[in-house]
Amino acid sequence: MSKKYSDIKKKLKLEITKTENNDLAHLTHFFQNHKNGVSQYFRPTAQNYLEELHEDLSIVSEPDFQYYLPIKWDIPFPPTSNPKFKFIDLFAGIGGIRLAFQNLGGKCVFTSEWDIYSKKTYDANFGEVPFGDITKIPETEIPHHDILLGGFPCQPFSIAGVSKKNALGKAHGFLDETQGTLFFDIARIIKHKKPSAFMLENVKNLVSHDKKKTFTVIKETLKELGYSIHFKVLDGQHFVPQHRERIIIVGFRTDVFNNEETFSFPKMGEQKFALRDILEQEVDPKYTLSDKLWNYLQEYAKKHKAKGNGFGFGLANLDGISRTMSARYYKDGAEILIPQEGKNPRRLTPRECARLQGFPDSFLIPVSDNQAYKQFGNSVVTPLIQAVGKNIVKEIIKINELKKSQIAVH
Ligand SMILES: C[S@@+](CC[C@H](N)C(=O)[O-])C[C@H]1O[C@@H](n2cnc3c(N)ncnc32)[C@H](O)[C@@H]1O
Repeated sequence: MSKKYSDIKKKLKLEITKTENNDLAHLTHFFQNHKNGVSQYFRPTAQNYLEELHEDLSIVSEPDFQYYLPIKWDIPFPPTSNPKFKFIDLFAGIGGIRLAFQNLGGKCVFTSEWDIYSKKTYDANFGEVPFGDITKIPETEIPHHDILLGGFPCQPFSIAGVSKKNALGKAHGFLDETQGTLFFDIARIIKHKKPSAFMLENVKNLVSHDKKKTFTVIKETLKELGYSIHFKVLDGQHFVPQHRERIIIVGFRTDVFNNEETFSFPKMGEQKFALRDILEQEVDPKYTLSDKLWNYLQEYAKKHKAKGNGFGFGLANLDGISRTMSARYYKDGAEILIPQEGKNPRRLTPRECARLQGFPDSFLIPVSDNQAYKQFGNSVVTPLIQAVGKNIVKEIIKINELKKSQIAVH
């Protein structure tokens, strides 16, 4: 008989308390992957962990931990049962990118995120605890996958060394130049695991960052690793009532696709969204700004206007779209304020922030408001990612079917 994930968690007192300990990540990854050929990556640590936790449970040393498996996934976004492809979710946050690729029929086989509160949200929704700091995870410990996904933090590179090497007529060695950055960790995993494709997401400024050097190094590194590169700045406002521009970089392995992939970025529809469509009907008065904060924001805006600066709060037009929600929204909510009749404006509720990023209402928010604001502000417009993902997945399925038919012929 299947056991519910919530019961297993209670019984084993599975609680995410330490960020540096990957035992729970191994265990939950084993639970979700025991039948798809990648369990060997997680099984030994998962087994040790269970044995230490419950010395009397000799049952856990039985094949496939039969006491626990199979699991009935009583979570909002359970693993896909007949996956069409495998992917990994790096810098996972709360899994906005995972949600999109899971909706497209994919199975996540590895995920990493070091923030303890994001891990909690991730586990509550996907039944899997992400691994911690990616810089400490050897690429050999990551299972094979078709698509690598990640929205990584943007950091500068020093490319002085690259030009010097070029001048000396040596090989580029762009990968070396990215050492010590989080992009390097993505690149080293791509180099070792050679996924058929990847999709990376970042702020629009990545393109112009450090006089365009950062983006040049990223593109050259990815090409050097054997991928053809497609990139575009896309705006979330075609999917949700929020102006949110992000760069999406997609790559396909040249020795698999021969540069013949027919991938293109999705056409942005004409459909218009209105902020009022995502607002909750009943809102707790705690979200209304205090007189003190509201006065402060108005004074601050006045001062800046007098100096000729445009900076100020953003009183939203409910029939239009909002400004970009940032991870700092929890501070005062100034960038998106909702006007209210006869009252000070209010900030968005965490549920409204989730909707502003296209998350369905079934997505659980098990953390404080402050953490939730940070998490949704850091996340992605999931339907936009899904629209891009659809065109990537089409190519992956084509190539996987081609491979299968070639095996059948031989
Ligand atoms: C821009 S956010 C990505 C959010 C994600 N796309 C989502 O849908 O929620 C980047 C994430 O990388 C995480 N991060 C930064 N450095 C990390 C590291 N060394 N190892 C693992 N995660 C890291 C941060 O905690 C943050 O949640």
